[in-house]
Amino acid sequence: MNKISKIKARQVFDSRGNPTIEAEVYANLISAKSICPSGASTGSYEAYEKRDKGNKKYLGKSVLKTVELINKIISKKLKNKNVHNQEKIDSLLINLDGTKQKTKFGANAILAVSMATKKLSAKLKKVPLYKTFLVRKNFKLPYPLMNIINGGAHANNGLRIQEFMIRPDKAKSFSESIRICFLVINNLRNLIKKRKLSTSVGDEGGFAPMINKNEEALNLIVQAINRAGFQNGKDVSICLDVAANELLKNGLYSVHSKKFESIDETIKRYIKIIKKYKIKSIEDPFSENDWSAWSKLMKSIKKTQIVGDDLYVTNLERLKKGFLNCSSNAILIKLNQIGTVSETLEVIKFAHAIGFETIISHRSGDSEDTFIADLAVGTNSSQIKTGSLARSERVAKYNQLLRIEEELGKNAEMNKIY
Ligand code: PGA
Ligand code: ZN
Repeated sequence: MNKISKIKARQVFDSRGNPTIEAEVYANLISAKSICPSGASTGSYEAYEKRDKGNKKYLGKSVLKTVELINKIISKKLKNKNVHNQEKIDSLLINLDGTKQKTKFGANAILAVSMATKKLSAKLKKVPLYKTFLVRKNFKLPYPLMNIINGGAHANNGLRIQEFMIRPDKAKSFSESIRICFLVINNLRNLIKKRKLSTSVGDEGGFAPMINKNEEALNLIVQAINRAGFQNGKDVSICLDVAANELLKNGLYSVHSKKFESIDETIKRYIKIIKKYKIKSIEDPFSENDWSAWSKLMKSIKKTQIVGDDLYVTNLERLKKGFLNCSSNAILIKLNQIGTVSETLEVIKFAHAIGFETIISHRSGDSEDTFIADLAVGTNSSQIKTGSLARSERVAKYNQLLRIEEELGKNAEMNKIY
């Protein structure tokens, strides 16, 4: 009953309509499946995403060869292995691949199998998935970081900053946190309509109006927060993902306007907007290789969460370097940046040990899979970033958290935030 009998992979599609891998792991007649997500503004140190570059039928984006690798090689290798021994299965997958960035099989193949195995183990034990990670009791629910205006690589409106998010800091429960976001989003929609701009949404479900100045987006959000009856910086905070990798040229950054500016000037302007808009969290303020700029920013500001995404790529070695360099005080966690569940848990454990916040994250190309909702609760991560309250692949994660909240009942406490 505890042994893997076979693995069946297939090509399915993600929320951007691109091919991706679903793996289904079987223990005789019982199975569990998982779908790998895919990013658009990826860090160069991420684990490798394997696609059939030469297959013109799918514009080089199909994953059919990778699917075959799972069905023919990985399935055989994992046959009869104990499904509950996640670490062993993950290390078998890592060794079978044998490369640093998982280029042989692709992290997309490896992760789909790793997550499906984890789900099957929980299913066979008849325990909810969230109870099978790092914490076993006193589960805490994460605060949502809702991306309500999309820019950068996730929209085509010319906004420099990729994600404008809200975090309902004063919410006492997860359902209350969703209600607060719902109210702000509805007010924001009305404000955008009033300005005769489009209320269509970007890849992560946030609005993508044709505005191209950061401050225009920030002003709209402050107004929406006020109109919803909340106070910016108290009840609800604004959080940003700059995704600065995309905004760097010759050592200069074009974060605050189209003009490329020095690191010192960029920091000065960060400080200005943090103050003016009471911003509580900034992700990837500088590029993945600019270690000194990160620590300079950390020294210049207080009480702001600085989050490493492309900087760390959920990689333990890079996180250790960032810790020693005082680069940030938080890390974004994306399973497919590293490629296995076990390696992801190791990074989260280390991050907590050094006092970093962990923010579990979706990818801009995502699916109906809600694995990350359970992961956030099961690791007591203080925040989750999974888009807006729009597009089913985003809302699916929030709905799963509402189910977990209901199941925990009176014990469903919110986590603490920085
Ligand atoms: P990605 O963006 O999934 O397109 O990489 C998300 C992020 O940068 O946080
Ligand atoms: Zn990011």
